[in-house]
Amino acid sequence: MGNETSPIVSIATVTKRFPGVVALSDVSFDVGEGELHSICGENGAGKSTLMKILCGVITSYDGEILLKGSAIKMRDTREAEDAGISIIHQELNLVEELSAAANIFLGREMTTSLGLLDDIAMEQAAAKLLTELECHVSPSALAGSLRVGDQQLVEIAKALSLEAEILIMDEPTSALTEAEVERLYRVIERLRERNVTILYISHKMDEVFRLSDRITVLRDGQHVKTLERAETSPREITHLMVGREIDEGNLRADRELGDVVLEVNGLSLPWPGHARAWRLQDISFQLREGEILGIAGLMGAGRTELLECIFGASNDVPQGEMLLSGQPIAFRHPSEAKDAGIAMVTEDRKRLGIFAEMSVGENISICTLDACARAGFVVNASEQASVQQMVEHLRVKTAGPEAAITSLSGGNQQKTIIGRWLLTHPKVLLLDDPTRGVDVGAKAELYRLMDQLCREGIAIVLTSSELPELLTVSDRILVLAEGRLTAEFDRDEATEQKIMEAATEGAGSTQSA
Ligand SMILES: Nc1ncnc2c1ncn2[C@@H]1O[C@H](COP(=O)(O)OP(=O)(O)OP(=O)(O)O)[C@@H](O)[C@H]1O
Ligand SMILES: [Mg+2]
Repeated sequence: MGNETSPIVSIATVTKRFPGVVALSDVSFDVGEGELHSICGENGAGKSTLMKILCGVITSYDGEILLKGSAIKMRDTREAEDAGISIIHQELNLVEELSAAANIFLGREMTTSLGLLDDIAMEQAAAKLLTELECHVSPSALAGSLRVGDQQLVEIAKALSLEAEILIMDEPTSALTEAEVERLYRVIERLRERNVTILYISHKMDEVFRLSDRITVLRDGQHVKTLERAETSPREITHLMVGREIDEGNLRADRELGDVVLEVNGLSLPWPGHARAWRLQDISFQLREGEILGIAGLMGAGRTELLECIFGASNDVPQGEMLLSGQPIAFRHPSEAKDAGIAMVTEDRKRLGIFAEMSVGENISICTLDACARAGFVVNASEQASVQQMVEHLRVKTAGPEAAITSLSGGNQQKTIIGRWLLTHPKVLLLDDPTRGVDVGAKAELYRLMDQLCREGIAIVLTSSELPELLTVSDRILVLAEGRLTAEFDRDEATEQKIMEAATEGAGSTQSA
C-alpha cells in the first residue's frame, strides 16, 4: 500500500528545539493517503512532539509540513481540525467538569433556533458516536467521573465527530484492556474503510505489526528509517528504536519468598446505588516478602479498586480484614498507608500522579521530604543526591532535576512517579499498570528493578493491561472478574488463554462498567 499512494502529508526537514533539548532534528518522511502509518521510538524520541506540530498544538518549529502537496502552517488546533487533522492525545485532554457530550462538541456546541445550547441534540449525537464505539457510558456523565478507558473513547468520539481525514492516535490503547483494544481495532477498521489516514503511536509491537502499512522509527529526535510492515519485523524495529539488543533475561530465577507481609481476608467494597452492589466481593489472598503478585482482569473487574482499598484510597469504606506484617490495618487516607510502608503508583498519572507545576526533582522527592528532614539531613543535599540517583537508575530522559515535569515525555513522567515511591522504601509496593506508555527498553529496566527490589525483600502487587507482562514478571497471578476472584495461577501453570477464560468467567455482560 504505502508506497504507491500519493502522500497526503509530507514532513520536510522538521526541527524542534526546547530549552536544553533537541526534540526533533531534521526529520523528513511522507505519509501516504489512507495508510495506517505507525511511529515508533523510545520515550522521549520525539513522537508526540511531531504529532503536536501536525495538529497545531506546537506552532514554532523549523522546516515544513506539506498537506496534499502544499505547505501549510497551522496557528492552532482549530485550523488543523478545519484542514481535516485531529488528534487523540497521549495525556487525556478532557474537561473533567463537563459532560462527555459537552466535551465531544466543545467549541462547536449545537444551539437551538433561539441560540441556546441544545443539550438534548448534543447528547443524542454523542450517544450515537459513543454507541458506534461500543462505549456504553451516559453522554451526560461528567468526563471526570469516567475511568481512563472510557475517557479515551470520548476523545475518539470527538475526533469522529470532526470527520477527520487524518487522525493521529498517540498511544490510544495504553489504558485499554484486551476486549477494549479489540473494540478499538474494529473502529480503526471502519475508519480505514472511509479512507481515513491514521498516524499511530504505540509502544506495543504486536499492535504496530497488526495494524500498520508502514512504520517510521525515530530515535533521539532523528528519523532513523521508514519501512513497509511486510518487509520488517518487531525485532528489527525494536533494534532500530533503541540501537541495542534488549535482554529481558530470566528475571524470576531463584528468588526466595519470605514471610507473609500482607494478608487480605474476605475483602468487599460496596458500590452504593449500583445494580451490582459490590465493586469487590469476598477477596482473600496472601502476599509474601520478595513476591510479585500479578492481578489480571478486564477493565471494570476491580483491579484498581483492590489496590485502592489496600492503600486507603477508596471512596467507600471496605469490609473485611487486612493485615500488614500481622497487624490489622484499615487506612482512611493514603498518607497513613505510606507511613505504614505501603506505596502505590496509580494508573492515571495526569489526574493522580504528577504535580504539574513542580520540577522533575520535586516530583520525585515530594514523598520523602519529611523523612530527610526528620533524619536531620540537610534536605537539599541529600534530596538532590537521591533524586539524581533515581533519575540515573531509571534513565529518566530530562534536561535535569530542575526541569518542569510537564516538559518530560509521557513515559518519562511515569518513570518519575515510580522513582518517587521507590524512594520511600516501602514494604509493599502497589503498581497499577505502571508500564503504560513506557517503551520496551525502559520496561525491561523496570522489570529488572522490580526483581531487584523483591530480592531486597519488598513485596509487589502489580496490575497490568498487558498479559504478557504479567506472565513475564509475576510469581503468582490472581484473576478478577466483576469484582470477584475467579482464579489463581502459579507462574508455571499460567497461560494467556487460562487467564482470559477466568477473566470473562460468569460474565454474560463483560462490558466495562
Ligand atoms: N514542552 C516541552 N518543554 C521542554 N521539553 C519538551 C517539551 N515537550 C517535549 N519535550 C522534550 O522533547 C523530547 C521529546 O518528547 P516527546 O514527548 O515528543 O517524546 P515521545 O517520543 O512522545 O515519548 P513517550 O514515548 O515517552 O511519549 C523529550 O526529551 C522531552 O523531554
Ligand atoms: Mg509521547
